Amino acid sequence: MKKKIGIKGVILAGGKGTRLSPLTKATNKILLPVYNKPMIYYPIENLVRAGVENIIIVSAREHAGNFINLLGSGKEFGAKIEYTVQEEPKGIAHALSIAEDFVDGDNVILNLGDNIILDDVSEEVRKFRGGATIFLKKVDSPSAFGVPVFRGKEIVAIEEKPKRPKSHYAVTGLYIYDNTVFEKIRTLKPSKRNEIEITDLNNLYIKDGTLRYAYLKKEWSDAGTFDSLFETSKMMRDIAKRQKRG
Ligand code: G1P
Repeated sequence: MKKKIGIKGVILAGGKGTRLSPLTKATNKILLPVYNKPMIYYPIENLVRAGVENIIIVSAREHAGNFINLLGSGKEFGAKIEYTVQEEPKGIAHALSIAEDFVDGDNVILNLGDNIILDDVSEEVRKFRGGATIFLKKVDSPSAFGVPVFRGKEIVAIEEKPKRPKSHYAVTGLYIYDNTVFEKIRTLKPSKRNEIEITDLNNLYIKDGTLRYAYLKKEWSDAGTFDSLFETSKMMRDIAKRQKRG
């Protein structure tokens, strides 16, 4: 009998975190606090909220032990968490390719470890029928992100950190892919900064005509710089206080 296609979660906790040095000299960026939780709690909570039970964390070798100490089997999150290592920082798409055996023919939802997402994306996961789904958020300075180029309502390209962005949207660090993602990654060449880029991967789905997008409605943050880490902590404190007041 053919196995039913499920979905697996991948959280990336690699990278050198150079933008946050010296905070990241002795630890991983994704273990840093965002208000009252380690950053990695947010991507785990996001995937669990989306109905994803099996999650793998791809981290740099020197921090893998810390993630296991912190998260264990994943039981307290209602997930099954596994761990693997990206030996060299060769980019986001490369890190995703390390999870190929774990994904084992299923679809995959990738959450970058420093992306704090508060929306419930379970509907997008349920509706997913193949290709790729990306999530957009309107931002003041899109130049720091992957930026979609629209023709009408269609995305015709994504540009990585363009000096002159062609829209006001950021491509956030949450992506759903079908299993052709691994074949596609194998065809990608390293970029100028010698990384296999997630934006190049998304552009392959655009070429195939199978990239869909959705908008995030709630607050979103990439907590990878001093300012955004600080602002995200403030944001989470405000939200926690609001919830407490009811
Ligand atoms: C990465 C991606 C970029 C995306 C961003 C989201 O950038 O390359 O396309 O918009 O994540 O957080 P990084 O923040 O790793 O430089």
